Amino acid sequence: MTDPQRDDAPILQVRNLGVYYETSRGDVRAVDDIDFDLYPGETLGLVGESGSGKSTAAMGILQLVNPPGRIVAGKVLLDGQDILKASEETVRKLRWTKLALVPQGAMNSLNPTMRVWQQISDVIKAHQGRADTRPRVLELLTMVGLPARAYDLYPHELSGGMKQRVCIAMAIALNPAIIIADESTSALDVVVQRVVAQTLLKVKAALGVSMIMIGHDMGLMAQMVDRVAVMYAGKIVEIAPVREIFASPKHPYSQMLIEAVPSLKERKPLKITEGITHDPRNPPPGCIFQLRCPFAMDVCRSVAPTMRETSANHTAACHLYPEVPDRSAIHAAHVAGNP
Ligand SMILES: Nc1ncnc2c1ncn2[C@@H]1O[C@H](COP(=O)(O)OP(=O)(O)OP(=O)(O)O)[C@@H](O)[C@H]1O
Ligand code: SF4
Ligand SMILES: [Mg+2]
Repeated sequence: MTDPQRDDAPILQVRNLGVYYETSRGDVRAVDDIDFDLYPGETLGLVGESGSGKSTAAMGILQLVNPPGRIVAGKVLLDGQDILKASEETVRKLRWTKLALVPQGAMNSLNPTMRVWQQISDVIKAHQGRADTRPRVLELLTMVGLPARAYDLYPHELSGGMKQRVCIAMAIALNPAIIIADESTSALDVVVQRVVAQTLLKVKAALGVSMIMIGHDMGLMAQMVDRVAVMYAGKIVEIAPVREIFASPKHPYSQMLIEAVPSLKERKPLKITEGITHDPRNPPPGCIFQLRCPFAMDVCRSVAPTMRETSANHTAACHLYPEVPDRSAIHAAHVAGNP
């Protein structure tokens, strides 16, 4: 793990992104006005319980949201260009060459009737039209730690961990600058999880890519990411460097998440007895965490807390911490004027 290169400009800036799902009883605000930056070479963990909107955020960034979902607001700036405004064709190209996704449940999306080499080769050919992809496919298999014999195998002949590594090979086939890995390890047993996680880190180091790692296992995050963004009910409620957030989590929800990890050396799935308690179609006024928060105050029931800096590079959306008006004004101006 390294600290992000804060002197560099962010490679990806997500601003005020909103993604809603239309239902017969109103819109589910799956992603509600989120902001974050990703720096070159950085791994950012996006963590939160089931239903908090992590996958929807990834799909929003990649413009892969399908009806009944829709992007309702925001900007996704890749090297300063808003890709939400780009043509479908441009985005389709960017999706593999700049921004690649290892989707949630990726290993189940492999085509059971196609051999490993065909599936990886198809990605390369669709974008580069190379006639002989064999050397590149073999190179990719080596990069993700698969033996050359995997080349000719069908998905059903592979273990879960091997299938997941095929998906990682597909994601990096066109040398993307950013990889979004959505719960790449959660369907696997603990030993295989570690191997897949290490594969992602190895690939990241070899290619120098930036990565958004989505998951709910805070213990695993602790070992893999540089910074953590905590999501709750469609909102990012805290962002901080990983060591800082484990040493001093500021948002009461982050505190609950971290208390649920027994030890940084021992990884286990998140264990919080209750999940999101409000109706996602009708969030309460004020703070979205108020129904579960042990520290809720009057102000929390009427005023939604904005993100505020609690220390350098550490922000949290909670009324327990003072808002510094000048800083929020600077941030608002930055968001509005420097997209
Ligand atoms: N097609 C859909 N129609 C309506 N609501 C949806 C749809 N897909 C997702 N949602 C809702 O959007 C919210 C966010 O879902 P999302 O899958 O992004 O969460 P997640 O954090 O990725 O969860 P998990 O950890 O289980 O993968 C949830 O309330 C979910 O019920
Ligand atoms: S704003 Fe209030 S309710 Fe929300 S997390 Fe902070 S103290 Fe709890
Ligand atoms: Mg998900």
